[in-house]
Amino acid sequence: MGKLFISEHPLIQHKMAMLRDKNTTTKEFKELITEITMLLTYEATRDLPLEDFEVETPIATAKCRRVAKEIVVVPILRAGIGMVDGVHSLLPAAKVGHIGIYRDPDTLMPVEYYCKVPKDMEKAKVLLVDPMLATGGTAKASIEFLKERGADEITLISIIAAPQGVKTVQQAFNDVDIYTAAYDSALNEHGYIVPGLGDAGDRMFGTK
Ligand code: URA
Repeated sequence: MGKLFISEHPLIQHKMAMLRDKNTTTKEFKELITEITMLLTYEATRDLPLEDFEVETPIATAKCRRVAKEIVVVPILRAGIGMVDGVHSLLPAAKVGHIGIYRDPDTLMPVEYYCKVPKDMEKAKVLLVDPMLATGGTAKASIEFLKERGADEITLISIIAAPQGVKTVQQAFNDVDIYTAAYDSALNEHGYIVPGLGDAGDRMFGTK
């Protein structure tokens, strides 16, 4: 089974309190999403492979190491877009894919309306980002899409995860780790995470 990492880092917990607050402005919300994503990305990239190389300092040659893995960040539309800057602040060379999926109200099957990812996904570590892991339906469909495109190293980063979403992902895939800043208790009848933070996309883009 993939790992569930719930960050207890004081900085993340402090920022989460501000993020959840209904009085937080759109500007602050966006900034907090970026900062928390950056801190979660730091944790999620702890096992990246390194290669040796040499750097000339002003004094001598230093034996150094650099990341030896291509990174692709894939936001799930729409709210995942708000997490891309946070990943890019640590991994500026990461390529960006996009996944747009909705659930057909009649069939309840996931429908892809916009999906574009870089070539050579099999060589990359993919950071799939979506702030809210609620039912896990979209995350599951997105991971299936990425695997069909050849991705075999996928990590899901969500700001808040609900038990149902974690269970859906973990039951479907045994090789996808989940990194989150909070593990909330439940979903309400509208599919919102409780206590959560409301609609992440609306709060991020000021559309509520
Ligand atoms: N998506 C959101 O934006 N918020 C939730 O609570 C659940 C899904």
